[in-house]
Amino acid sequence: MNNVTLPDASGYFGAYGGRFVPEALMPALMELEEAYNTYSIDPSFALELEACLRDYAGRPTPLYFAPSLSESLPALQVYLKREDLNHTGAHKINNALGQCLLARRMGKKRVIAETGAGQHGVATSTVAALLGLQCQVYMGEEDMRRQAVNVLRMRVLGAEVIPVKTGTKTLKEAVNEAIRDWVSSVNDTHYVIGSVVGPHPYPMMVRDFQSVIGREAREQFLALRGCLPGYLVASVGGGSNAIGLFHPFLGDPVKMVGVEAGGYGLTTSMHAATLSLGRPGILHGTFSYLLQDKDGQVLTAHSISAGLDYPGVGPEHSYLKDAHRVEYRAITDTRALAAFHKLARLEGIIPALESAHALAFLEDLALVCPPGTSVIACLSGRGDKDMDLVSGHDQVLEG
Ligand SMILES: Cc1ncc(COP(=O)(O)O)c(C=O)c1O
Repeated sequence: MNNVTLPDASGYFGAYGGRFVPEALMPALMELEEAYNTYSIDPSFALELEACLRDYAGRPTPLYFAPSLSESLPALQVYLKREDLNHTGAHKINNALGQCLLARRMGKKRVIAETGAGQHGVATSTVAALLGLQCQVYMGEEDMRRQAVNVLRMRVLGAEVIPVKTGTKTLKEAVNEAIRDWVSSVNDTHYVIGSVVGPHPYPMMVRDFQSVIGREAREQFLALRGCLPGYLVASVGGGSNAIGLFHPFLGDPVKMVGVEAGGYGLTTSMHAATLSLGRPGILHGTFSYLLQDKDGQVLTAHSISAGLDYPGVGPEHSYLKDAHRVEYRAITDTRALAAFHKLARLEGIIPALESAHALAFLEDLALVCPPGTSVIACLSGRGDKDMDLVSGHDQVLEG
């Protein structure tokens, strides 16, 4: 089986993936898989999703040639896939629309979600309001502090935001709580997972919903340049914007780089570089690379950006790393902040701090590429949500 047609029927990408969950969730996952298999080939579902993506979310998003950024990186011609221009400000809406439309077809009245940066929570709350579904979002208290604007947005949209106070009070604990809720509410509730993580069929289903990014980018680049790009670059938290961009190009001679959060640096314990420094293990129902100590205890992840602050990663990325099809690199908090400011000043675009990791990596790429190399970088979201965080850091830097 090649890497374009994975996962296999049991939900494995090579050794990775699967379904490691409590017995109580097995029927729900099987029901979801069956529904997804039915509706993903149903033309009326495809038309409904396409119309929502176009008329509600604002797709297709532009593929923007960034002239000043390219001039600052003389080897590169940089194109930005503008997921920040989607309704709600990030790629997360693509998946929220897909899953909530599916939940409605399955007769579910309530959706739950977990969120780190808040973008997935906002996207799910938005679509729940659109479709008249009840919505509760689990969010770590630390992330609620870092992303206060998004907490307010979810509440305005009618969702209940449930603070998670355990552990590091970030995304990992929010996922634990959402899974706990789902175990006792599977009859009327769909759990909208926000990235290509979790048990089968989530990594496949979320990838398929996010692949609209790469399908559009491929078509747009071919129309603009009459050839394929040299590189694709995207940030990797759980891995959904990256796999969404990469997947439609996997059969092409295009190089791909996923950029993880290097936090304070890979020689410290303060990072979220799961693929760079982790080992395979089980977290949140799937077998994949994860940050763990020598006894297999899951380690705490750190990133300046709440959306990359997760000790696990989607199983398809683990497979693509081992297959040497995609390279994974890490960028520190400091470099991501510098790239955030650089894009704002050069192009008048304020990127999400998550996306800024991918942008910072372009500096490294420019050092090794021949002149004229074309790159598509995924601008996964906009930076409004990060303004408080960035101004806090700027004060620290100035002080
Ligand atoms: C704007 C943005 N980019 C990237 C990410 C990382 O998630 P993923 O790796 O699933 O794309 C997030 C997660 O919240 C996000 O909000």
